[in-house]
Amino acid sequence: MKLIFASHNENKVAEIQSLLGEDFSLLSLKELSFNQEIPETSETLEGNSIIKADAVFEQFKMPCFADDTGLEVDSLGGEPGVYSARYGGEDKNADKNMDLLLKKLHGISSRKARFRTVITYRTQNQMHQFEGVVEGNIINEKKGVHGFGYDPIFIPIGSQKTFAQMSTKEKNQFSHRSRAFEKLRIFLRQG
Ligand code: IMP
Repeated sequence: MKLIFASHNENKVAEIQSLLGEDFSLLSLKELSFNQEIPETSETLEGNSIIKADAVFEQFKMPCFADDTGLEVDSLGGEPGVYSARYGGEDKNADKNMDLLLKKLHGISSRKARFRTVITYRTQNQMHQFEGVVEGNIINEKKGVHGFGYDPIFIPIGSQKTFAQMSTKEKNQFSHRSRAFEKLRIFLRQG
């Protein structure tokens, strides 16, 4: 089955292709020469993933899906949430994002947080959403060199290590993204 993954990030498309397996053949926006940036104007992860899936479906009229992820810190009222990528500035720099978050959490003892991924799957007649969540805590300083984004400051419940101290395989056992895509995989296999 051919599906479009509404993402400009080729590494992410390759990662999700391997999670979904060979029964599904993912087409990336790059392969389809869809170069325009889709404005993520919603205040929610659910809304932004719908905007992306709809934009790509309208263009190609083929089954497609989009994902949106955010880090939600309880003591900051769910920040950075939908602003996770550009929290520290429009240049979307991971160190700046983490530095701002650590600054805002300075002196706050409650460090509870979660990563949440929402996938929207869209066809002519259907729209379904799938959520993947990993609960954890934000530590005081960056630890580890692997991964990306906020990985060096997030320890999932059930581990002593940050995501950045784990191999990709270890991270995938906990990760919000693999949990959400596992739900999509099960759904697609049933269909
Ligand atoms: P996206 O929706 O997958 O592009 O994710 C938005 C932002 O959330 C990214 O730019 C990262 O800052 C953050 N993020 C998403 N997934 C992860 C992860 O697995 N580890 C750390 N940060 C992440």
